[in-house]
Amino acid sequence: MSEETLARAEALIGRYPERRSALLPLLYLVQAADGYVRPVGRYLVSVCRTLPCQLRGSRELSEALCKRLDVPLGGTDATGMVTVEEVECLAACDGAPVVQVNTENYERLSEEQALELVERLLHDEVPPPTLAGDGAVTEPSTAALHWRLSGLGEPPADLAERAATGAGSGGDGDRIGSAPAGGAGDDRTGGERL
Ligand code: FES
Repeated sequence: MSEETLARAEALIGRYPERRSALLPLLYLVQAADGYVRPVGRYLVSVCRTLPCQLRGSRELSEALCKRLDVPLGGTDATGMVTVEEVECLAACDGAPVVQVNTENYERLSEEQALELVERLLHDEVPPPTLAGDGAVTEPSTAALHWRLSGLGEPPADLAERAATGAGSGGDGDRIGSAPAGGAGDDRTGGERL
């Protein structure tokens, strides 16, 4: 945990008569800062398994990722870079199937695109998050949301910018699937809505 996050944690703790009462806000603070609250690889890849995403192939995505990394769900690859898990709805259903990396969303990924994403993470490269395209209503980064839930008020400018545009989130190289990859997750700009 960074010195900055520790200082913010102390500020949150100071709001409560008992230190342990700050547990939930502290978890949100850590989630906003790091994208996870338990020991995982450098990148936590969370595949949504709730119905809309399952109908759009999320189960196949998580199976392919586990196979590529040679881990069961919840496992971390041998290099310690990537943990893959399944989670319930990530509140971005219009972008199904949704994969989240730490706090950034990647929407409507095909299996090929999900594998490309993990390949780049294994090389310590975080592509900019992707949205579902026209009419997308969700934020590409959930870091600002977690910040607000921690009770610290409006997020710093960099988190707000990430939530609004995805700018500053990763940004290493091209977006995932810059070239059409085919499959159900391919159509980000005019695909049918759930
Ligand atoms: S069902 Fe997957 S984001 Fe909601």
